[in-house]
Amino acid sequence: MAGIDYSERIPNNVSLADNRRLQRALEEWHPKFLDWWMQMGPDGFQAKDVYLRTAVSVDAQGWAQFDYVKMPEYRWGLFLAEPEAGRTIGFGDHMGAPAWQDVPGEYRGVLRRLIVTQGDTEPASVEQQRHLGRTCPSLYDLRNLFQINVEEGRHLWAMVYLLDAYFGRDGREESEALLQRRSGDRDKPRILGAFNEKTPDWLSYLMFTYFTDRDGKYQLASLAESGFDPLSRTCRFMLTEEAHHLFVGETGIGRVVQRTCELMREAKTDDVRRLGGIDLATLQRYINFHYSVSLDLFGSEISTNAANFYTMGLKGRFEEVKKRDDHRLKDTTYAVSELTGDRITTREAPALPSLNERLRDDYIADCQRGLDRWNQVIKKHEIDQELRLPHRGFHRAIGLFAEVKVAPDGRVLSEAEWDARKHEWLPTEADQAYVESLMQPVTEIARFANWIAPPARGVNGRPVEFEYVRLA
Ligand SMILES: [Fe+2]
Ligand SMILES: [Fe+2]
Repeated sequence: MAGIDYSERIPNNVSLADNRRLQRALEEWHPKFLDWWMQMGPDGFQAKDVYLRTAVSVDAQGWAQFDYVKMPEYRWGLFLAEPEAGRTIGFGDHMGAPAWQDVPGEYRGVLRRLIVTQGDTEPASVEQQRHLGRTCPSLYDLRNLFQINVEEGRHLWAMVYLLDAYFGRDGREESEALLQRRSGDRDKPRILGAFNEKTPDWLSYLMFTYFTDRDGKYQLASLAESGFDPLSRTCRFMLTEEAHHLFVGETGIGRVVQRTCELMREAKTDDVRRLGGIDLATLQRYINFHYSVSLDLFGSEISTNAANFYTMGLKGRFEEVKKRDDHRLKDTTYAVSELTGDRITTREAPALPSLNERLRDDYIADCQRGLDRWNQVIKKHEIDQELRLPHRGFHRAIGLFAEVKVAPDGRVLSEAEWDARKHEWLPTEADQAYVESLMQPVTEIARFANWIAPPARGVNGRPVEFEYVRLA
């Protein structure tokens, strides 16, 4: 297994030194990336030492090394999973042919668009999270935030590598454009809706890492099946890092639930706000919001684009290689949602254009696992309440459900009913103001904000009471 050469300006396992043209392109892009990072990266902490992991190999065991690093000095690099000897295309019209090592000419535009769309989400999330450091609930959480931020930065590098290495001049232009769009900017917004939403507080951030980073996992996993081998290998390694982001979301919300339950038990009340906790009803509304905007990221139920990506061999299904069918899907169907009057039913639709819906179904099942775990915490405290995922039609802006108002339980509502009740289901201004009022920084070693429980363990075998960020 090839280690990574850290003597190079850009650590990599792609033999960058042998490709002078690419090396020059990336060396020109590097200072622009750093300018972007200084402008749009974590605000107020660029000079601090942070206990971060850095990728040092792409080996499943021991791929990361932990040490104090100042974020602008983080070794962003280019790491692809090891090539699989004799890999063939696993689905679509080219199934069985050798995986492409170069961009297939006829799919160049489509492939570039796929890479740019994925790439755009990476810096977007760094921008969305840039002010959170100032209100961290602990040094442990602060460190995890920065870990995610530098890794999203590295994911941007990963996509820029593909653009620069395989798409020539237009690839380089796209690489520049990735640094110019800004989350939430009216004139130059990021490409996807959820990445232009604000992440104003830590509860939103934990929800984002649980629900929205999980969309990333599913997009990356289906791109990891790609017949374009460099994209597949890039995404496979990104998924290794992504797992930590999902861990932060799942355990983070779990810790909030834990703390809420402790307060409920202690004071024998549901109203934990007066004790400085986040009540379960508020948590439910945040779940409803973040889950629904993340569902939109999968696109319309019926999509010719999705069908084309698959048929072309560019983007597969989640765990494509594990599936036992013909991997062409021309003669099969898939159940997708349908509106019949004011009822939501399903119908069998041709499988290929339903691929977005299928990926969304995989995502929904995965989301439910976290809810089950959080509900275990509630149950352990002998509290008779449950957190739930709302119906997939709830609060949607893309696809079939964009045209209707749907309650969390799946009932189709009139506009008037929706308006009368939406404050029960989505975070209200009062909720946001309350959550915001809790966002007071806690930066003493081993201390945690009152609204979140400490984690079960620290990072990389370090104790929870470790100086994860040196602020002095
Ligand atoms: Fe990412
Ligand atoms: Fe992520």
